[in-house]
Amino acid sequence: MEEIRTPIFEQTELFVRSVGEESDIVQKEMYTFEDKGGRSITLRPEGTAPIVRAFLENSFVNRGFQQRYYYIGPMFRYEKPQSGRLRQFHQVGFEIFGSESPGADLETILAVDNFLKRLGLTKYTIHLNSIGCPECRKNYREALREYYGKHLNDLCDDCKRRYETNILRLLDCKIDHELALNAPKSTDYLCEPCREHYEKLKDYLNEFEIKYVEDHTLVRGLDYYTRTVFEVRHEGLGAQNAIAGGGRYDGLFSDLGGGTVPALGFAGGIERIVLALKAEGIEVPRKNVHYIYVATIGEDAFKEGMKLAMELRKKGLNVDVDIMNRNLSGQLKHADRLGAKYVVIVGDEELEKGVVVLRNLETGDQVEIDKEFAIEYIFEKASKE
Ligand code: HAM
Repeated sequence: MEEIRTPIFEQTELFVRSVGEESDIVQKEMYTFEDKGGRSITLRPEGTAPIVRAFLENSFVNRGFQQRYYYIGPMFRYEKPQSGRLRQFHQVGFEIFGSESPGADLETILAVDNFLKRLGLTKYTIHLNSIGCPECRKNYREALREYYGKHLNDLCDDCKRRYETNILRLLDCKIDHELALNAPKSTDYLCEPCREHYEKLKDYLNEFEIKYVEDHTLVRGLDYYTRTVFEVRHEGLGAQNAIAGGGRYDGLFSDLGGGTVPALGFAGGIERIVLALKAEGIEVPRKNVHYIYVATIGEDAFKEGMKLAMELRKKGLNVDVDIMNRNLSGQLKHADRLGAKYVVIVGDEELEKGVVVLRNLETGDQVEIDKEFAIEYIFEKASKE
């Protein structure tokens, strides 16, 4: 899996064509500006469409399939700020390109579940639905039209508009939720290939003991989805309880001018995940992996310590040297605050003896190492932590 970084802003058109003209994101939530050249640009409200754009522009297709990418970065939505809902927030996301197989859906849901479990979270539920392909959705739309048509006068103003423009979104309206519960289910309208895909995914999830609830009101707020959609909700959060969401978007590549590339992925909201950790009383250990603090006493020792730090950095370790001229106990305290497990101590005495001291801050144990072997020895110890 590779990291992918896309620009913070894109041409507005990209999100209109992918997330959907009638979606809340495009209708109400985008930060859209004109640049000096009169082009309409938008701060990215989500990461999937930019990645597909980057794929198409850079002919990633030549890399062969399957392809897996992850990303971490800021997203922007002009929403009313409240707990768990920010105008600039961060997502960590994962996308798989090229596979139509339900095995890829399994892998995506396993990735979300594993990520949340490894953080220690337990009080979340995976909501799952299949909204089918454009073919089977035609019939489903008709069924919804008939159902909601009988209740038109009871709908909120937004839903009255959505009835005409984007009828699936009526299902996840918070105001008209009661009506949604009794609405026709998309899974009853799936064509044979979509039904088989959904059944296979559920079999896989059962086999892998991934708990989920089937939720036929789940349609997600972005229009590019096809077949599988899912959302992870945490019980310790208030109204903004979705900590991650995702699904399949088999039509997005062709909508954006590429060929047919089945694809899917998810994104988690980092700030909401942090709220969920707090709600469950989980403290994420602040462990600075492979981190070494070099404490020095005196000018000569500082130079020696800096040389040692440079050698250790060349080997890939994350190394800090005191540049605040603190006394030794101040340096050790600071190293502890930064989460260092090991401190290398270089003082006059050590210089004279041609050694350095390696102290394990967790146990208090320390050893004197001959300068000649210090790099290898420290690297061996620290890179295994
Ligand atoms: P999304 O459901 O719109 O999906 O956003 C994913 C997650 O971002 C949400 O579950 C939530 O945790 C977080 N989030 C969204 N808006 C806010 C906000 N205003 N403040 C704080 N957190 C927020 C997507 O963006 C899709 N691109 C996910 C995806 C990837 N689907 C396929 N691949």
